[in-house]
Amino acid sequence: MVLKIGVLASGRGSNLQSIIDNCESGFIPGEVVVVVSDNLGAFALERARKHGIKDVFIDPSSLSREDFDVKIAGVIENSGVELVCLAGYMRVLSKVFVEKFKDKIINIHPALLPSFPGTHGQKDALEYGVKVSGCTVHFVDEQVDHGPIIIQKPVPVLEGDSVEALATRIIAEEHKAFPEAIKLYAEGKLKIEGRRVLIRD
Ligand code: GRF
Repeated sequence: MVLKIGVLASGRGSNLQSIIDNCESGFIPGEVVVVVSDNLGAFALERARKHGIKDVFIDPSSLSREDFDVKIAGVIENSGVELVCLAGYMRVLSKVFVEKFKDKIINIHPALLPSFPGTHGQKDALEYGVKVSGCTVHFVDEQVDHGPIIIQKPVPVLEGDSVEALATRIIAEEHKAFPEAIKLYAEGKLKIEGRRVLIRD
């Protein structure tokens, strides 16, 4: 059975690309059926088009957060999406959306949560002085960068690191972690128990 994946992305879409590539190679038993963006200029939309995937831009400018999310939910449902992946999606999802797709939304974050949530995970980790950062794939709940954790990958912080250098090493791990988590989901191997995600064989 092939999992139907919907991706929400606001920017360059390198994580989207890794998901598409891993579906096409067969690593993920799934297919990206739609890519939705709140940013008309997002390169993620271009990547979708190149692979013959439906791309949808929804203009957030004149809509409330809830109304915007209702529109996205409509696209997601009409496309038959079974798993929603947030791949560099810069808007906070409303409660209505999260409840509608409960336990069916996952996000990637460029730090080891619960440390350094928010939009500057790599910079915040570097400035704090941690020796290890990394990335986290987690289920999405109503709080930002908060839901049960599926996979984390560590990345050492090196002396003399810049934000860009650290971010480059972290994103390389993101491109492995996200497909691994989606594969586990597609194979029905994830079980949420409170804050913990159990991975079955
Ligand atoms: C990634 O670092 C991801 O962890 C964060 O936003 C960035 C998106 O990058 N949520 P890309 O658009 O997938 O290249």
